[in-house]
Amino acid sequence: MATLKASILAMLGFAFFCGAALAARDLSDDSAMVARHEQWMAQYRAASTKTPPRRLGGSRSIKTNKGFKSSNMRIPTGFRYENVSADALPTTIDWRTKGAVTPIKDQGQCGCCWAFSAVAATEGIVKISTGKLVSLAEQELVDCDVHDEDQGCEGGLMDDAFKFIIKNGGLTTESSYPYTAADGKCKSGSNSAATIKGYEDVPANDEAALMKAVANQPVSVAVDGGDMTFQFYSGGVMTGSCGTDLDHGIAAIGYGKTSDGTKYWLMKNSWGTTWGENGYLRMEKDISDKRGMCGLAMEPSYPTK
Ligand SMILES: *[C@@H]1O[C@H](CO)[C@@H](O)[C@H](O)[C@H]1NC(C)=O
Repeated sequence: MATLKASILAMLGFAFFCGAALAARDLSDDSAMVARHEQWMAQYRAASTKTPPRRLGGSRSIKTNKGFKSSNMRIPTGFRYENVSADALPTTIDWRTKGAVTPIKDQGQCGCCWAFSAVAATEGIVKISTGKLVSLAEQELVDCDVHDEDQGCEGGLMDDAFKFIIKNGGLTTESSYPYTAADGKCKSGSNSAATIKGYEDVPANDEAALMKAVANQPVSVAVDGGDMTFQFYSGGVMTGSCGTDLDHGIAAIGYGKTSDGTKYWLMKNSWGTTWGENGYLRMEKDISDKRGMCGLAMEPSYPTK
């Protein structure tokens, strides 16, 4: 029932992709449903190209297109890993094994994927530079970061979240500012558990550049999370066609190669542990489309210490 409702909402263009992982397994067991879904997918793609949702995680921005911000409006930043030699990169990396990734979180029915994505990248760089892994508060971003494109459960952008964390003097812990999955009043006066100095954008549409960054730290990545290829992912390396209407934020926490030679990005999602591979996913890496699988190479960025 929840799945049907989500499908209907998606058809109407109200899908809260950022907030809702559809029940993929139930559907894939039903071939009639799958056929209907293919149809819907084609319709959805046609509709979604007309109104590209850009504020990540914003269900309402799909309808009103308010807050649209195209990638060419990004102010160019430095890229500290530009001179890293590709030959010097590890062949595989998994930041979980280095203790730089907190357990999978669940954003629930709040379109604040942008906060989860920015927090995952921040938790990573904080652990790498201080040796301490601290789970940080997405809710502080949802409640207090209301500037530029960041509008709590109505969507936001990771770079704007980084800007807020810098200006705010850091972010507090998850335990002292628990997640509620709803917009709330900003509780000021909370201690900052983790700080960052800045942020940088990875050069767009360049998976080799993204690899240099991910080899050094977890990176925030925007994807077309509304595409059915993404929505119905249930394990393995995600391959095949996927759109590039960026509407969801996740974090690249590694990369590798399967035994049959398929290269992949290891990603952390924020849709709970029952989605994908215990909440994580692997997406095909180095595909012919420079924008990457589901647009993952279009707008990656990371915080700096
Ligand atoms: C990369 O190398 C070029 C040429 O030596 C230099 O100008 C640039 O500053 C270097 N970039 C970084 C981030 O160190």
